Amino acid sequence: MTAVADPEDLGLTLTLPGTDSPLRRSGRRILLDGPERRVGVVRDGVWDLLDDGEDLPRWSEAYAAVRNAEGRRSASPEYYRRLPHEDLSGAFPDQWRVRSRSFIGLVEDVLDPMAGPGHPLRILDAGAGNCWMAARLSGMGHHTVALDVNIDPGDGLAAHVNHPEDFVAVRAPMDLLPLPTAGVDVVVFGASLHYVYRMDAPAGGRVLAEARRVLAPGGRIVVVDSPLFDDAGSGERMVAEQQGALRERLGVEPPGITGDGFLHRPSLLTHLREVTGGTLRMVETHPGVRSRRRGRSLVRRLVGRSGRPRERARFATIVATVATVHDRVPPPPPGTSPAESGGVP
Ligand SMILES: C[S@@+](CC[C@H](N)C(=O)[O-])C[C@H]1O[C@@H](n2cnc3c(N)ncnc32)[C@H](O)[C@@H]1O
Repeated sequence: MTAVADPEDLGLTLTLPGTDSPLRRSGRRILLDGPERRVGVVRDGVWDLLDDGEDLPRWSEAYAAVRNAEGRRSASPEYYRRLPHEDLSGAFPDQWRVRSRSFIGLVEDVLDPMAGPGHPLRILDAGAGNCWMAARLSGMGHHTVALDVNIDPGDGLAAHVNHPEDFVAVRAPMDLLPLPTAGVDVVVFGASLHYVYRMDAPAGGRVLAEARRVLAPGGRIVVVDSPLFDDAGSGERMVAEQQGALRERLGVEPPGITGDGFLHRPSLLTHLREVTGGTLRMVETHPGVRSRRRGRSLVRRLVGRSGRPRERARFATIVATVATVHDRVPPPPPGTSPAESGGVP
């Protein structure tokens, strides 16, 4: 069983990351068209545009090792096919409950109204992990690209073999996308944007500008399942707690990431507005979930350490629509936040 398709089978084009130069496949080799040059290789169905010597492949190996140690894999294809609505492994039922709810919201509130009957969308699943979302969206008829740096068969792109649906699987960084300008209708960051987004960097880093580049006019950037904080200090404390818990439980050093590890909501809304020039919408919001046992011990540890508990992460679906020439909205007046001017809570 294999799920992967070549891009042209789905009417899509892959490009040299960050550019509009199209790529083509010759056997296993991925070639730059025009001045012919090998830029990658198709490995187990995945278009791999990273060089093994780069930092990201090394990072993704360390990351996959931690995720596997946490139990985020299964020998059963059925496990992958039931996600996000059922976690047959029983390892992270609370997390998948959140994912299931936000996925239903994504489909019903964002994608269905955009698509219309007989008009599939071109969707990039950025930070696709084991491809569950790309598979679900492809099964609904959309033309989907699953992108990640992790090619692990348990938790990364190579898990595509567990899904019967056709989609493109490509290994490339989220902040240097192998898609042409205006090449897709939707970019979804599913529990992934916080790995690269930095509140203090101009426009949050390269990631949002890249998403904007590959979106057609009227397209959407959708951020789901990432921990949101209004208080940056609380976000930083959550990251430190998670890292401490990994060291304690698994005895491993968590691999460092380039992003903040959480999303500072006010900064993100400002950056999304700047980058898209369009409207923002919050589809759903609910507090983060935590097992009771772990929650209690964390609160005790936190209160003990700092004297006051931190803000809890919230999980929401944020939709930023790229402005078209007809609906470009004026920037908010100086001194007001996007929330005040754009209807986002
Ligand atoms: C928490 S997982 C989420 C996976 C999946 N979207 C889900 O909802 O289950 C985050 C994913 O982002 C990927 N990721 C992190 N940094 C990345 C980067 N710079 N470029 C591409 N993918 C990245 C990781 O490899 C991982 O698969």
